[in-house]
Amino acid sequence: MANTGSTDAHSPLDGFDEWESDVLKRYPDEGTTHKARDQFRNYAEPPRETVREFYRLNHTLQTFDFVLAKKREFLSLDKKRMSAWEAAEFLNTLVDESDPDTDLSQLQHLLQTSEAIRSDGHPDWFVLAGFLHDLGKVLSLFGEPQWAVVGDTFPVGCRFSERIVYPEFFKHNPDSREPRYQTPTGVYDEGCGLDAVHLSWGHDEYIYHVVREYLPEEALYMLRYHSFYAAHREGAYAHLMNEHDREMFRWVRRFNPYDLYSKSPVPPDVEALRPYYEDLIAKYLPAKLRF
Ligand SMILES: [Fe+2]
Ligand SMILES: [Fe+2]
Repeated sequence: MANTGSTDAHSPLDGFDEWESDVLKRYPDEGTTHKARDQFRNYAEPPRETVREFYRLNHTLQTFDFVLAKKREFLSLDKKRMSAWEAAEFLNTLVDESDPDTDLSQLQHLLQTSEAIRSDGHPDWFVLAGFLHDLGKVLSLFGEPQWAVVGDTFPVGCRFSERIVYPEFFKHNPDSREPRYQTPTGVYDEGCGLDAVHLSWGHDEYIYHVVREYLPEEALYMLRYHSFYAAHREGAYAHLMNEHDREMFRWVRRFNPYDLYSKSPVPPDVEALRPYYEDLIAKYLPAKLRF
């Protein structure tokens, strides 16, 4: 069985939860009470060295050429055919060895995210985006290392922003010695729009391509840019965005709190929720998606 928990040299994290816990520590929800916050942050302090090592690998190895190679490899979408629900169950076969107090499965995280969106009365495509947003992590089950599946995303082909987490590790990235990539715009044009910009490869870009024909653009932005914290939380890379990106990023920012702050130790009732989600999936998506 595929296992995100095995800590080999290329998989330092005890599962994806450890990266997500680190993001939550960086962006605690100031709107919640301490008590509520403690509830969803009730995990042992993650061993910082594993998170640092994860980012060292991610920032060292995500080069412009690597991203293009992964797009050639995966965006032909010829690896597997699954319904969205089957993909969520497939993703659930990942073994996560994080703290048992918050050890929600991948499927439970998707459902907590989408149910929080639903209970706030948002449109059903927003709910569906919540359910789909991490399905791209099936890359891990296709044998991809953690640093090429999760982690904050960032543009390649231009200067790395100091507002990306652990920016010091970019000195190990060969692209930092490529003259074409050392200006703020690099190989891109000012204001060209993010669709023309290659971001570091991972689960966001992958799921965007899997469902891009089927969902409203607002939902697609949520999927494609939900890990682009340097932009949606730190305001970096505005010079690469166009007016349309700025408009659409309002939706990325609306989505982000549901991803980060919907974690609760009470697991959702998967079987009770399943009929609603099967109907929602059938409304927007084909019976089988191409991964
Ligand atoms: Fe994600
Ligand atoms: Fe998530």
